[in-house]
Amino acid sequence: MYKVGLTGGIGCGKTTVSNLFKQLSVPVIDADEIAHALVSPAGIALTQISQQFGQTYILADGNLNRSKLRETIFNDVEKKSQLENIMHPLIYEEIEQQLSELSAPYAILSIPLLLETKMQAFVDHILVIDCPMEVQINRVKLRDQLSAAQITAIIHSQVSRSERLAQADSIIDNTQDQLKLNQQVKHLHEQFLKQAQ
Ligand SMILES: Nc1ncnc2c1ncn2[C@@H]1O[C@H](COP(=O)(O)OP(=O)(O)OP(=O)(O)O)[C@@H](O)[C@H]1O
Ligand SMILES: [Mg+2]
Repeated sequence: MYKVGLTGGIGCGKTTVSNLFKQLSVPVIDADEIAHALVSPAGIALTQISQQFGQTYILADGNLNRSKLRETIFNDVEKKSQLENIMHPLIYEEIEQQLSELSAPYAILSIPLLLETKMQAFVDHILVIDCPMEVQINRVKLRDQLSAAQITAIIHSQVSRSERLAQADSIIDNTQDQLKLNQQVKHLHEQFLKQAQ
């Protein structure tokens, strides 16, 4: 199966674009959804987190104490990489598992941290969803309860826009409206169907 890795900075439109591919009946595997499931009470990452970080990171109802963990890794780079060492292999393992159950000419793998985790070789084609930083900040502000300073800090923790664009095989420009987005998705869909043969 031809694997298209879809990536991009926070708020650039990865989820929006993934949904447009889904509308064209293209299977989408979503690393964010997988990460979420892995730390749910039934998820295998949760056990490892409680073993390595401590039982205090699990709430009385069995859920992960997300805000406590977020604060810990924000203040401690070693803890951050410890968490990544738990999560990233499990995420890619689950992506492999889901891929093995699919039959389609190609699949979209939505992996926000594809470049940060240096997993370029995992996919056949890198599709970057791009927009200028001001647009990113404005859209995330509208969506989440975050300040411009908080959003900027997240953007700076990710691979830079220029580095991401330099690694792209295709780029979707999501600066304009959804109609423009849909046109680009349809065009790429035709291209991926041909490349998948
Ligand atoms: N072309 C557009 N015009 C206006 N708003 C848009 C456009 N594309 C996306 N948005 C909105 O911008 C916000 C960010 O988009 P989306 O959630 O798809 O980004 P994302 O890359 O998945 O973000 P994250 O990195 O946080 O997962 C959403 O509220 C979405 O509805
Ligand atoms: Mg998203």
